[in-house]
Amino acid sequence: MLIRKGTFLLTRQLHLGRPSYTKAASILQGSTWEIDGKVLQKDDRWNLSPAVLRLLERQLLNEPANPLALLKQRLINFFHKEYRKPGNRSPLFTVCDREPRVVTVFDNFDSLLVPKDHVSRRASDTYYVNAENCLRAHTSAHQFSLMKQGLDNFLVIGDVYRRDEINSTHYPCFHQVEGVRLYSPEELFGNAQHRDFELFEDVERTKEKQGKLTEDATKALEISLKSTLEKLCDTFFGQCEKRWVDAYFPFTHPSYELEVFYEGKWLEVLGCGVMEQKLLNDAGITDKAGWAFGIGLERIAMVLYGIPDIRLFWSRDSGFLSQFSGKAPEDTVKYQPISAYPQVTFDVSFFLPPNCEFNDMSADVYDTIRTVGGELIEQVELTDEFTNKKKNTKSQTYRIVYRSNDRVLTKEEVNIVHKEVEKQLIDQFGVKIR
Ligand code: DAH
Repeated sequence: MLIRKGTFLLTRQLHLGRPSYTKAASILQGSTWEIDGKVLQKDDRWNLSPAVLRLLERQLLNEPANPLALLKQRLINFFHKEYRKPGNRSPLFTVCDREPRVVTVFDNFDSLLVPKDHVSRRASDTYYVNAENCLRAHTSAHQFSLMKQGLDNFLVIGDVYRRDEINSTHYPCFHQVEGVRLYSPEELFGNAQHRDFELFEDVERTKEKQGKLTEDATKALEISLKSTLEKLCDTFFGQCEKRWVDAYFPFTHPSYELEVFYEGKWLEVLGCGVMEQKLLNDAGITDKAGWAFGIGLERIAMVLYGIPDIRLFWSRDSGFLSQFSGKAPEDTVKYQPISAYPQVTFDVSFFLPPNCEFNDMSADVYDTIRTVGGELIEQVELTDEFTNKKKNTKSQTYRIVYRSNDRVLTKEEVNIVHKEVEKQLIDQFGVKIR
């Protein structure tokens, strides 16, 4: 479900982190907290746990081998290619992926017209630093200030935080992309026609539209919004069946969700709508109207890459990460489940025989390791290469990750296989083990 019962917020998703207890402990004791260049005074509303402090440190989108980082780049590439400034010189959408993750309560809720008594404001739902500041619960929290700064077309990408129980589909941190596009009348209706159409009027609000925006403006925005998002969806999922579902968000009207029929199931992809004109007016914009959308990245990445559990995004297991590292954002990657049994890692280092080139050697080494180790070899990586000019020697180091699909391997039994790898490298290619 994109919409949670009783709230408008996208379903939250989950994670596994590695502890850094001492840092978290010292943060918990101090009266101030520093994050993303801000120093904040804690007060009695502070409810950040050691676990969420650890999540804040990780920043998955900055890890190039993380599938979420690949998906983020794929989405940016789409917008940069499809939408250019007049003259085609530069991308239309500004990418904002370094916004501070602590925002004001005003930015996270009030600016977006979230009612004062909305459940999402509760201390049981949101991480508060103090009475005025919280961790952003959605990337929408940056709409107001970015518009105020004068941006018309932008994408906000980042990690968002919500307090929740932890289970297979919920976790306190997940990742979102926000898109906003503002139009002047000329941009919306075209230079030639815009005099025949109005953006604004002042009538009763209906189920179909806001009172302040004309039907023409509402329709034109809806067409632009839906065609943009359908195209985006096609780049992710190919030409799939899609459907638009009416929705409710406090900051858009009318509001929609987009669903795609992918691999036999309807999947909710995003929430969006025509931006509430009050939001723009409050940000000082009185001559434009616009649309906005919000996408949760985890859900899409899981479907696209076949990742069965949200916790895997936070895995540091090289069996997971190596399947994505070095991939281009547009590559098709299907995740192969990794074994639940632990890895055993051994290095092999050797001098190459005289007159042997690095490149010639590596292909043979990979083959030999796989031949000897068979199913037990999960990964082989060339980790070091070195030429000693004086002694006229070349050496290489390979890291071999051993893992079984059906049992725990002991160091002793892996050592036997590893010794055989070394023996074969010596016998077949004349290397000298270091
Ligand atoms: N902020 C919403 C959420 O987290 C998602 C969203 C919906 C963003 C509609 C938008 C929008 O910009 O127009 O659930």
